[in-house]
Amino acid sequence: MSIDLIERIAKLRAERGAIILAHNYQLPEVQDIADFTGDSLELSRKAAATDAKMIVFCGVNFMAETAKILSPDKVVLIPDPGAGCPMADMITADGLREFKAKHPGLPVVAYVNTTAEVKAESDICCTSSNAVRVVESIDSDAVLFVPDKSLAAYVASKVSKKVIPYSGFCPTHHRILAQDVINTKREHPNAVVVAHPECTLDVLKLADGIESTSGMLSYVRKSDAKEFIMCTERGLLHRLKLDNPDKTFYNPSPLNICPNMKKITLEKVLWSLEDMQHKIALSVEIMDKALHSLEGMIAI
Ligand code: 13P
Ligand code: SF4
Repeated sequence: MSIDLIERIAKLRAERGAIILAHNYQLPEVQDIADFTGDSLELSRKAAATDAKMIVFCGVNFMAETAKILSPDKVVLIPDPGAGCPMADMITADGLREFKAKHPGLPVVAYVNTTAEVKAESDICCTSSNAVRVVESIDSDAVLFVPDKSLAAYVASKVSKKVIPYSGFCPTHHRILAQDVINTKREHPNAVVVAHPECTLDVLKLADGIESTSGMLSYVRKSDAKEFIMCTERGLLHRLKLDNPDKTFYNPSPLNICPNMKKITLEKVLWSLEDMQHKIALSVEIMDKALHSLEGMIAI
C-alpha cells in the first residue's frame, strides 16, 4: 500500500474539513483510512450528526444520497458515481406508484437500499437493523415493503402484520446458496452460521443469527464460539478478522462479492478530495419528501 497515497488523503481531508465514511463492505484499505465504518443505519446517523463540512462517502449511491438528504447543507462526495446498488435499481418511483395503486391505502416501508425518488414516494424507511421494529411501529395490519423480497419475508416471519413484498433482491446475497452453507457446515461442524437478512429464506433457515452488517460484527464479538460461517458480502471479513484475531471465519460461497462496493479505491478517494467530485445533487422537493421517510425511521 502506498504510504504516499494515504498521507495525501489525510492532508487533503484535513484541508477540506472532510470526514470519510465507509460501509462495512468496502475494500480493506478504504475501510482502514475511513474516519468511521458502519452499517447503513450507523452511517446515516453519523452523516446527520457530523460537524464536518464535507462527507466523502465510500459506499454505493443510495448511501451517499441518504447522507445528502440528512445533511443537505454539506457537500457529499462519492468517489465513483458508478457505484450503484442493483437491488435499489429494481424499483423506480413509477414502479412504486403502480405497486401502490394495486394495494390502495397501504403504508409503504422502503428499505434504505432505494433511490431518493423512491424514498420520497414512501411513508417510512428502514435498514436491515431496524426493519422489524419499523414495521411493528406502523399503525396498519398490512404494509407494502420495497424493494427486497428477502428482507420482507424475514420481517414477515417476525411480525404479526401482513407484509406485501416487492420483487427486488440483492444479487450478491442471492448467489450464496443453501447448499453452499450446508457444505461449509459439513466441513466445519462447530461453526456458527450468521446471515444477513438479504439472503434467501433457505439460507436464513440455516442461520443461528440473522443480523445487519454491524449486527454481525457485534454478534461475533459477543459469541463464545470460535468458528463462523458468514453469509454476507466478503468485505465484512476484514473487520471481523481485525476485531477477533482468535476466531476463524469461513466464506460459504466464492461468489459473495458486491462489485459495486469494490469500485471505490484509495486513488478514487484522493481524486474525489482533490477535484471535489462527484457531488451528490438532488432536487429540494425530492430531498424534503425523502427526509420525511428517513426521519420517521431515525425517530424509531
Ligand atoms: P447493512 O445496512 O446491514 O450494512 O446492509 C447494507 C447492504 O447493502 C447490504 O447488502
Ligand atoms: Fe446492493 Fe447487494 Fe451490493 Fe448491498 S451487497 S449494495 S444490497 S447489491
